[in-house]
Amino acid sequence: MEVQRVQSIASLSKHANTIPSEFIRSENEQPAATTVHGAVLAVPVINIGGDSDEREIIELISEASRDWGIFQVVNHGIPDEIISKLQKVGRDFFELPKEEKEIIAKTHESGIEGYGTNLQKEIEGKKGWVDHLFHKIWPISAINYKFWPKNPHSYREATDEYGQRLREVSNKLLKWLSLGLGLEEQKLKMAMGGDDIVFLMKINYYPPCPRPDLALGVVAHTDMSAVTVLVPNEVQGLQVFRDEHWYDVEYIPNALIIHIGDQIEILSNGKYKAVFHRTTVNKDNTRMSWPVFLEPPPEFEIGPIPKLVNEQSPPKYKTKKYKDYVYCKLNKLPQ
Ligand code: SIN
Ligand code: FE2
Repeated sequence: MEVQRVQSIASLSKHANTIPSEFIRSENEQPAATTVHGAVLAVPVINIGGDSDEREIIELISEASRDWGIFQVVNHGIPDEIISKLQKVGRDFFELPKEEKEIIAKTHESGIEGYGTNLQKEIEGKKGWVDHLFHKIWPISAINYKFWPKNPHSYREATDEYGQRLREVSNKLLKWLSLGLGLEEQKLKMAMGGDDIVFLMKINYYPPCPRPDLALGVVAHTDMSAVTVLVPNEVQGLQVFRDEHWYDVEYIPNALIIHIGDQIEILSNGKYKAVFHRTTVNKDNTRMSWPVFLEPPPEFEIGPIPKLVNEQSPPKYKTKKYKDYVYCKLNKLPQ
């Protein structure tokens, strides 16, 4: 059966003033009714460049991860051109004719990888105004190039190049996150799979929406991953829940947005917090984002790191295989 893409719905409803009812959120979720307007949330912005003092970086990252679960990093060492190329090849792919994109569409057997649209409706039967592409970018043994676009030709080169730089930044972040918990520098990385950590790339494509006041891109959630490293395009859309309200997050060109995900919250026994976030869409412009999820291998067990558990701080989470965590979360079962 042919799946209807949000991109097609968007081009059909370009001049309309309405959207199909399955995209209209209930009032307690509608962005117009639930966003704090006129305020942009200043999530911590951390300079991790060579001239910064490492002790200070660790302190800032640790504080941001405890208090916010999200921060942006600048001077991260990934050249702007590498980010621009990643964005260009992703955008070029999504702008191809439908048939070209459907070549790498998800199937029942392909699991999470491939081009797709969320099929199962979310809370209250609603859908997000977004299409996506998922494919793994590391480790080599996990990569299935079948799900990487062949068109544009430079997709693979641009994405591999970004991936390599991203791993360098990720290694530093994991080291600092570890030291910020008073652990040895390799501890967190090893506790989430070491060299087997899976880097899963997602591209979100949010086409223009005639009623951005009523629809959401991605519904409110915390990421299942350990950490997510994301680059957005310049169209505003990421929101974070803070002090019981939804706020837009400031867009900073070429910054990386770091989300603490569920697995780091668990490993840290709740010291670091996964950030609750969602995305809105825009009336005139296409928003895109490129999150890379750093995930433990499916069979790898995740639980509070023993050194962070004691009488005053008993384990707050169960220890379980990552694949079992994912199964419970996707099926809304208790963890
Ligand atoms: C997501 O959280 O899945 C998407 C975030 C974004 O598009 O900025
Ligand atoms: Fe997310």
